[in-house]
Amino acid sequence: MEAYLLDFTNMLLRWLHVIAAIAWIGESIYFVMLDNSLKTPQDESARKKGVFGEMWAVHGGGFYHNQKYATSPGKLPADLHWSFWKSYTTWLSGFALFALLYMTSPEVYLVNPNSSWEWAANMTGWQANIVALVFLLLGWVVYNELCKRISPNMDRDGILSLAVAVLMVVVAFLSTQLFSGRAAFLLTGAVMATAMSANVFFWIIPGQRRMVKAMEAGEEPNPLDGKRGKQRSVHNTYFTLPVVLLMLSNHYSFMYSHELSWVIMSLFIFAGALIRQFFVVMHTGKIQPAYPAAGVALILLSVWLAAPSSRPASDAMAATEGPTLGDVHAIVTERCVACHSQQPSQPGFSSAPAGVVYDTQEQLLRQITKTKQVVDSGYMPLGNMTNMTDEERDVIAAWSE
Ligand code: HEC
Repeated sequence: MEAYLLDFTNMLLRWLHVIAAIAWIGESIYFVMLDNSLKTPQDESARKKGVFGEMWAVHGGGFYHNQKYATSPGKLPADLHWSFWKSYTTWLSGFALFALLYMTSPEVYLVNPNSSWEWAANMTGWQANIVALVFLLLGWVVYNELCKRISPNMDRDGILSLAVAVLMVVVAFLSTQLFSGRAAFLLTGAVMATAMSANVFFWIIPGQRRMVKAMEAGEEPNPLDGKRGKQRSVHNTYFTLPVVLLMLSNHYSFMYSHELSWVIMSLFIFAGALIRQFFVVMHTGKIQPAYPAAGVALILLSVWLAAPSSRPASDAMAATEGPTLGDVHAIVTERCVACHSQQPSQPGFSSAPAGVVYDTQEQLLRQITKTKQVVDSGYMPLGNMTNMTDEERDVIAAWSE
């Protein structure tokens, strides 16, 4: 019953998280499009009022006329629309999901027993939880420091982008060393997503508040506040595609159970940013297919990298008579069925994870390719909780050949 209620809460939180993220990212993409599509106003009186760009649009059966002011409008309306709850809701629901799913069973979901760092492979559950929280926090601190030190006046944003790109590769690498595959991808995405929300919370919104306050006092707003808001929201727009992909990667074990998963992850991060770049530039009226072409090239490279390799069965294995389906099912029954059953006996599981059930030989047979892949890569059994041996992995590999 408890596991069932947890699953249900998980589902509701995920629903909220996805809806909030759609609303937030949709709005963010919309404003980048709006900003880049602005044209000098035709109407002289608008220019005199300080409008430097406008966009006409038709949507949902009506006509819209957006205007952007170069600095500040002469007089602020009382009902200025602000956007921040979508961002905060996305982060809060995402963090709640992470806490509920990963931090309640960290030894299963967070710890990476295959880590090349011995201390990381031997972390206890609560240590892994703390490392994960520190990881998230440090990701933001380092990113924020890079922005502040490299481009404090927003005049060296090119170098800053490069530094952030290098930072993301480091984050990807560290996460795969510290955490199990699925958690590593999720946490790398969460580092970016945290930077996005923290940009809104610590810089964009406070900066806008200072601008409004100055205007209300009849003073000129500090232009750095406006520029910094723009700098951080431009970063956010390049984070969006990679973040969404990393969140979805949870369903695709071929991505995160690979030895070089940090390289695959980095390729996808750059591919996402490059594809986003195409659209950003497109809204200014320029079509530059080189960006998505480079993005697709990186994706193809990762397709090639992530392709499953066939693990040669050990010599001892090859010498004996080939194993039978019955042998393989016996192993799977011992090592997998606690979780992967119509009625799992493993505490905390109310239904078969990922819908994978091995109660019968037929069920095993139908999923043998995927089974071999997750067993070869060491991803399953999760956290090797059921102590599967290398010999057993060889038997499954040999039989499925
Ligand atoms: C402690 C519980 C547990 C054990 C034991 C376990 N699994 Fe899993 N398995 C999971 C969970 C949780 C997921 C879902 C994770 C995910 O979505 O990637 C999963 C997912 C899978 C998937 C789907 C992966 C995908 O790409 O969708 C396969 C296949 C799988 N397990 C096979 C196995 C095999 C084979 C064994 C035994 C050698 C095994 N599992 C042992 C918990 C377990």
